[in-house]
Amino acid sequence: MLNLNAQIFIDKNRKISSISPLLFGGFAEHMGRCVYEGIYDPKSPLADANGFRNDVMEALRDQAYSVIRYPGGNFLSGYNWLDGVGPKNQRPVRRDLAWQSIETNQFGTNEFMNFCKEINADPMLAVNMGTGSIQSASDMVEYCNVQEGTYWSDLRKKHGIPQPHNVRYWCVGNEMDGPWQIGHLDAEAYGKKAHEAAKMMKWQDPQIKTILCGSSNDKMDTYPEWDRVALEMAWEQTDYLSMHYYAGNHENDTDSYLASAVSFENFVDTLEGTLQYVKANRRSNHDVYLSWDEWQVWYKGDQMEGGWVEAPHLAEEVYNLEDALVVAQWMNVFLRKSHILKIACVAQIVNTIAWMRTKSDGLLKDPSYYVFKSFSNHARGESLDVQVNAPLVETKKYDAVSMLDVSASFDVATQQGTIFVVNRSRSDSVTTELIWQDDSQVKIENAWQLSGTDPKAVNDWDTPERVITKSIPAPTLSEGRGAIILPPLSFTMLKLQSI
Ligand code: AHR
Repeated sequence: MLNLNAQIFIDKNRKISSISPLLFGGFAEHMGRCVYEGIYDPKSPLADANGFRNDVMEALRDQAYSVIRYPGGNFLSGYNWLDGVGPKNQRPVRRDLAWQSIETNQFGTNEFMNFCKEINADPMLAVNMGTGSIQSASDMVEYCNVQEGTYWSDLRKKHGIPQPHNVRYWCVGNEMDGPWQIGHLDAEAYGKKAHEAAKMMKWQDPQIKTILCGSSNDKMDTYPEWDRVALEMAWEQTDYLSMHYYAGNHENDTDSYLASAVSFENFVDTLEGTLQYVKANRRSNHDVYLSWDEWQVWYKGDQMEGGWVEAPHLAEEVYNLEDALVVAQWMNVFLRKSHILKIACVAQIVNTIAWMRTKSDGLLKDPSYYVFKSFSNHARGESLDVQVNAPLVETKKYDAVSMLDVSASFDVATQQGTIFVVNRSRSDSVTTELIWQDDSQVKIENAWQLSGTDPKAVNDWDTPERVITKSIPAPTLSEGRGAIILPPLSFTMLKLQSI
């Protein structure tokens, strides 16, 4: 192992943008055991009076989610929201064609609203653009957001909810570019339908913000033309363009995998360019931002057909150290792209493609759980444009990339800042000098690190805290300079305060 040298230059006046709190969102789909046995598990000894898992809610609160997207996902495109409201004993049991599972509808929109309140998160609902009509999309907004005195608002009241939910964020369909999607459309047909749906939805409630389906990933044959065409059709009724992306170390090429931030940034850059093009082409004054509302590592848990049972074990990943370091880079990218990226939802929050898994009487957290928690609790205020001088790491997929992947935030209100650093080298540590370029006096109050020697290391039920963030000695600064040795395969968070 070598010890190399690097510098990180920080200037709190060199700002990128304010950090949208909605970047720390999650996604809960009726898929596998995310809702049933994850969020809602009335038979568990850990359930509350609503049937919600107390241990899961506590962990979600700890992760400080700002927003939760629901109910899907591919599930959405065959879902009738009316099946999930009203008396539970009258709700139909249906076949969910997307995941070949049995859907009991015991958890629906109103239960989801209660759940969001319990975990202090805003809801982000989605309307079905597969089998669903623009009328049903509009009705759902009326049901959720109109006070009273109309058919749908009064139905909500009849269901025991006197006050409107006032849901602000609405996804107009899910992955409609994908041939796997129920009711898949081409870009033009989808763009027209989404435009009409969003128009009606906004007439119901002009306060709502809509999210248009973008490409399902950057490997789609139709990417990024899909995005351009759909945006051209629905620009004025759209507030955000949705991005989805799942990463994985498919070829067991850890060096390349640990440089995944390059792909993430390219994806954002291309779509930012597409937004700029469409805005200019339409001579519009309206702005559309990006919503990365499905992102996660997903390549190990490949069970995707439910076998027509309730709550099958689908896509249950076990995340290791290298996956956690990819998540840290992803969140660094969120901060570095915070001028255009305003919403992000990890897919998903529990059990299905998720960094925590339940059994009836227990909950296990993967290393990446702790990475998300670090960002969501500490990245506040403005993101900073840090400059990094670091040695390069050779990769097969991306050529040479910087050994360090860095982001930083500074909150003027509290005068606190945070630096997030990944050392992506598998072999070398790096003595990293932290250099303040503005005149401010700062001290580093706390430092935490998640690291290990084995990129494949995981937490398990016997050793649930093998890979977690641990407090480490905070480096001392003198006249705006200090140094820290960052071990290989590490994620470090430094919390600083102006003095
Ligand atoms: O999150 C799992 C699935 O991945 C979602 O249902 C779909 O939108 C995506 O393909």
